[in-house]
Amino acid sequence: SMFPWQYLALLLLIVVQICKAQRCDEFTDLNFGHAFIGTSIRVKLLLYTRGNGTCATLLSHTNLSAQPLLNLSRPTTFVIHGYRPTGSSPVWVNNLTELLLHREDLNVIVVDWNYGAANVNYLKAVENTQKAAANLTAFIKIMQEHGASLTSIHLIGVSLGAHMSGFVGANLNGSIGRITGLDPAGPQFTGTRPEDRLDSTDAQFVDVLHTDMDSLGFREPLGHIDFYANGGADQPGCPSTIFSGTSYFKCDHQRSVFLYLESMRQTCPIRAFPCSSYSDFLDGKCLDCDKFGAAGCPVFGYDVTQWERVLLKLGQTKTFFTTNSMSPFCITSAYRVDVIIWNRDARWGYITVKLHDKGTEAVATIDHKSTKFQKYTETRLFAQFNKDVKSVDKVSIMFSTGNVFKPKYKLRVLRVRLTHLERKDRPLCRYDIVLEEKTEVTFRPIPCEESNF
Ligand SMILES: *[C@@H]1O[C@H](CO)[C@@H](O)[C@H](O)[C@H]1NC(C)=O
Ligand SMILES: *[C@@H]1O[C@H](CO)[C@@H](O)[C@H](O)[C@H]1NC(C)=O
Ligand SMILES: *[C@@H]1O[C@H](CO)[C@@H](O)[C@H](O)[C@H]1NC(C)=O
Ligand SMILES: *[C@@H]1O[C@H](CO)[C@@H](O)[C@H](O)[C@H]1NC(C)=O
Ligand SMILES: *[C@@H]1O[C@H](CO)[C@@H](O)[C@H](O)[C@H]1NC(C)=O
Ligand SMILES: *[C@@H]1O[C@H](CO)[C@@H](O)[C@H](O)[C@H]1NC(C)=O
Repeated sequence: SMFPWQYLALLLLIVVQICKAQRCDEFTDLNFGHAFIGTSIRVKLLLYTRGNGTCATLLSHTNLSAQPLLNLSRPTTFVIHGYRPTGSSPVWVNNLTELLLHREDLNVIVVDWNYGAANVNYLKAVENTQKAAANLTAFIKIMQEHGASLTSIHLIGVSLGAHMSGFVGANLNGSIGRITGLDPAGPQFTGTRPEDRLDSTDAQFVDVLHTDMDSLGFREPLGHIDFYANGGADQPGCPSTIFSGTSYFKCDHQRSVFLYLESMRQTCPIRAFPCSSYSDFLDGKCLDCDKFGAAGCPVFGYDVTQWERVLLKLGQTKTFFTTNSMSPFCITSAYRVDVIIWNRDARWGYITVKLHDKGTEAVATIDHKSTKFQKYTETRLFAQFNKDVKSVDKVSIMFSTGNVFKPKYKLRVLRVRLTHLERKDRPLCRYDIVLEEKTEVTFRPIPCEESNF
């Protein structure tokens, strides 16, 4: 058994560990009181590196040599939070720094401007955005004087932080490498001139995600590429009534950060399709990715830089994708479904498709609006399945008009073709079937003929 001094040594070790942990510098955690008093602007720069990934080091704003962990030969990513009405620290900050360092050997600097962002008066926080931006600009200029290249700097700004990134970028004449705006704030910024908000001239490459444009976020495109998750307004799984308390206010807005975190984990790609509207996207009108060559349509998130060159050439690209209601957010099984009928008269209705593989069944109901089917005309549908089915051995299709009073219609299908959007599998076909309304028809698909339909 152990001697008392061994216990003592153990205890000492624990105490030393705790003291070490306490020496980490931390994000300013203000209480609700501060948000009422209103505090003057203060900017804290917290450095994380691979050498010290969970314990932050406070940086001097002027003496860069005071901190040997800051290595300006490495790229630097700044993480900039938004409005903090209660003064609490953002729940996602540690996740983001951790993932950034996991992906690349960087200086990650969390810009803690909580004193300026924590105010019950949103307008005050908006005002402070410019001041905090001026402060950060001064710091980046000093970095540049010490040999850092502006091209290797990436600003990730959330909400108000996205516009603050834009101000910093504009102060530096757009020479910063990249700005990522995560649901840039809408209130007080909507309708303003480009110099009063984030815009695509603020950095060499600007990528933006919209998740709450009907409330806290910004509706119009702001970058070289703008991603509208689930249309950009309402996110699946987020409460739609006020009775759900505070999450009603922030769930859609905060989803932008969680989607970005998942893109960094590279769980599965979220393919984003260029389109002029979400409705057109859901109608399957925007599934063509030819202009992006072999790479296909851009994948949302951290790694969209792979498409930077072509996106800069295109100028501004508005893209759409849909997600699941929780992690993993990516929908891995999406198909283009092309239907040709030979009914004499046009038919309107909805289609439900099921894919089967032994025990597994995946369902896609295409019901966002009634679709028109016309004789000998290809009707294109976009089907996203709730599960991925690797090898489809059976397909079920059901047609409905949603009308209970009219007599039941039949859809006489000349050909139905399913094309996977991600995999290069041969499309699946079935020829000559009759879909009686509300009656599921199950069949074994066959490889499509190279025909001239
Ligand atoms: C930025 O803010 C910090 C702390 O709030 C301050 O020490 C520093 O002088 C400011 N920098 C400039 C250029 O105002
Ligand atoms: C990590 O950061 C803390 C806080 O600044 C510092 O005390 C410690 O020495 C750092 N560790 C290393 C390995 O540099
Ligand atoms: C900067 O920090 C280094 C290391 O702590 C110190 O030796 C130096 O005197 C400081 N320079 C200034 C101008 O304060
Ligand atoms: C700084 O980073 C560069 C590039 O990663 C590396 O080659 C160099 O050794 C680092 N310098 C120090 C002092 O760690
Ligand atoms: C953040 O990190 C914690 C601890 O590693 C983890 O439990 C949590 O699920 C992460 N949250 C998100 C949204 O990634
Ligand atoms: C930005 O442009 C202005 C005016 O041309 C110039 O005075 C300033 O030095 C430039 N700043 C940077 C960081 O390049």
